[in-house]
Amino acid sequence: MSLCSRIINIVGARPNLPKIAPLIREMQRHPGIEPLLVHTGQHYDDNLSNIFFRQMGIPEPHINLGVGSGTHAEQTAEILRRIEPVLLEQQPDLVLVVGDVNSTIAVSLAAVKLGIPVAHVEAGLRSFDRSMPEEINRVLTDALAKYLFATEDAAVDNLIREGRPREFVHLVGNVMIDSLLHFLPFAQQSRIGDELGLHDGKGWQSFGVLTLHRPSNVDSTEKLSEILGAIDTVARQVPIVFPVHPRTQQRLAQSGIKYHPQLRLIPPLGYLDFLCLLSKATLALTDSGGIQEETTALGVPCLTLRENTERPVTVSCGTNVLVGTNPSKIVAAAEQILRGDGKKGRTPPLWDGHAAERVVEILLRNGPR
Ligand code: UD1
Repeated sequence: MSLCSRIINIVGARPNLPKIAPLIREMQRHPGIEPLLVHTGQHYDDNLSNIFFRQMGIPEPHINLGVGSGTHAEQTAEILRRIEPVLLEQQPDLVLVVGDVNSTIAVSLAAVKLGIPVAHVEAGLRSFDRSMPEEINRVLTDALAKYLFATEDAAVDNLIREGRPREFVHLVGNVMIDSLLHFLPFAQQSRIGDELGLHDGKGWQSFGVLTLHRPSNVDSTEKLSEILGAIDTVARQVPIVFPVHPRTQQRLAQSGIKYHPQLRLIPPLGYLDFLCLLSKATLALTDSGGIQEETTALGVPCLTLRENTERPVTVSCGTNVLVGTNPSKIVAAAEQILRGDGKKGRTPPLWDGHAAERVVEILLRNGPR
């Protein structure tokens, strides 16, 4: 590695932020690395972006490309167009991307075309469902990256099966769980339980947390109303807190779907409040990828409202159950958890709070180019 390597780190959407935070922190500890941070602006609302920077101590981005929302082609193309001059001017030795959002593939493509190597953190995850926009982003990013940092064994197997050179692939653990373990003590000080009336002098009452934002679940009124119908049945037994993603909010506003008052719709939460709720919840119901992992790390039973997962270790080892979107299956699985018979799990190997250290150590050892 040269005397000092300039690494441009990319964030775009909310789930990127808990992944980048420990990586930047770790890079800052090494004089051999000059980390820069670029925000594409894919997410721009305060509660999807800025609040995470503040709470997690992520440094202010050097540049915000300000791309905003759009169709997939518009958003991807706009990121490609706006990142290229930044890469030409900054001349980084490496570009590091995380996750599977449009920013991940767009910046990777721009970088490799300029001969700049790419590191992909959270490489190799596959749902094998090409109707998911994220699956396309994953497959393409992994085809381009030189450093493929994997969270679980299945991801390593996928990359090897796809013909990626073995020496590019590194099983390092899960940087998002680095953040979870680091911030959990701070999250426990959150007042969100009092604010929502879930916590009093005697402690926490039983409650569930729901998140829904996958296009396949929320873009059709019929589908969304079917899922919320099942959640209503669960909410008659236990309050369900539902921080609503803007995509889902738009659909709810258009559709006029009614729901039980124990289903508590609230705006998206910051990282610490959400982590506090998740850690105290009796059950989580979600279609998010990250929450499947966070509940596994916390030992909280999770029902994934999808037919597949790109994170199979959360099922084989953790607390996750792929319940799908059939209403009667959702209700039956939730009632099983409420009876105290939820899935028990273990923490997957290397989800120990040190994944970012491994990533940076490998980059320092190999040199970016
Ligand atoms: C994006 C990611 C998804 C990730 C999710 C996490 C892609 C393809 N999708 O999906 O993988 O799980 O983020 O949240 O990269 N909006 C706002 N404020 C914002 C951002 C968006 O109101 O700050 C609204 C816009 O109207 C937009 C809609 O939400 O049209 C959806 O946003 P978009 O970034 O297109 O996709 P997400 O569903 O957020």
